[in-house]
Amino acid sequence: MKKILLAGGAGYIGSHTAVELINSGYDVIIADNYSNSCPEAVRRIEEITGKSVKAYELDIKDKTALETVFKENKIDAVIHFAGLKAVGESVAKPVLYYRNNIDTTLSLLECMEEFGVKNIIFSSSATVYGEENPVPYTEKMKRGTCTNPYGWTKVMMEQILEDAANADKELSVVLLRYFNPIGAHESGKIGEDPQGIPNNLMPYVAQVAVGRREKLTIFGNDYDTPDGTCRRDYIHVVDLAKGHVKAIDYILSHEGVEIFNLGTGTPYSVTEIVETFENVNDMKINHVYGDRRPGDLPESYANADKALEVLGWKTEKTLADMCRDTWNWQKNNPNGYKK
Ligand code: NAD
Ligand code: UD1
Repeated sequence: MKKILLAGGAGYIGSHTAVELINSGYDVIIADNYSNSCPEAVRRIEEITGKSVKAYELDIKDKTALETVFKENKIDAVIHFAGLKAVGESVAKPVLYYRNNIDTTLSLLECMEEFGVKNIIFSSSATVYGEENPVPYTEKMKRGTCTNPYGWTKVMMEQILEDAANADKELSVVLLRYFNPIGAHESGKIGEDPQGIPNNLMPYVAQVAVGRREKLTIFGNDYDTPDGTCRRDYIHVVDLAKGHVKAIDYILSHEGVEIFNLGTGTPYSVTEIVETFENVNDMKINHVYGDRRPGDLPESYANADKALEVLGWKTEKTLADMCRDTWNWQKNNPNGYKK
């Protein structure tokens, strides 16, 4: 059975990917410092899959600790989820973001070299398309100018991984550029559990729904879009997780660097998200329109053709599924993983 190391595997996307990999016959090992997650998420993965999961509590930056994982397990591929991801915090604490996101990548690459592991999939972001590229984004476009340090860490890590693969022809790198993951596993046992005030739209909507926040502020309704609010390519986290399974199948038999957009290709506006959430879950979401949020682009969505052509992957779930599953997770876990 092929062993896949999930660095940051206890987090939102990592936990859903762990479930899909296990269900597809892979053995997963999680390494996480629980800086933005908790061991309960690993327990829930075990509950959903009925399989026990080996998990290491460690900081991926700590190469000595990471070496233990590689010594104790014969790893076939790594998926690198371990990063800090709050855009606003990255503006306030850029050094923390550069240190964490880049050092985790370097430690992983060094351990992989030391132990002869040749496959790495990286959690990149649509944010690397920057401000210049027109929508829909295709993988052939050049990386653009980011508006914040978080985005720059993704650009830099993509470059580091490409350089490493150029220098070692046996190294395989897959850069997955996620669009906007939302939703939760249909069991309602795992989902997104942001610490503090959510930065992202869907967790905020869910916390208004459950009564933890009073109202949603929609950031700007004067954009040049059909209803004036920003449009994004929201993707169900389970579809996204299945994209990782396809990428693992692919990387185990290919060399070199490949980039894939993981999105649906269909944008929805903030207002459409709120309306769909209300309709599907039969409730009202208290909301007001406010100023634009600095750094927001009017539109961001994928051309998702390449992932279909090369990986045979496309999304299956609808926006209604995303809204229903988000609420199912939130109402069953009003305080996230905390009791
Ligand atoms: P998350 O915060 O839920 O998961 C990241 C995990 O990495 C957490 O469990 C955290 O504890 C762990 N981690 C962070 N630094 C670590 C370190 N130094 N050592 C060990 N563990 C560490 O975030 P997520 O939404 O699951 O995102 C996963 C990856 O995908 C991140 O790299 C993120 O930047 C990227 N991404 C996320 C989105 C999104 O909207 N969620 C979009 C694009 C890209
Ligand atoms: C943001 C980041 C992006 C990152 C992604 C995942 C910015 C500029 N971009 O993407 O780099 O990869 O998160 O972490 O921060 N909205 C509201 N009210 C809210 C929250 C959001 O109206 O309370 C709107 C936003 O203006 C945006 C849309 O909802 O139009 C989606 O926002 P969000 O979920 O934060 O994702 P992105 O901005 O696309």
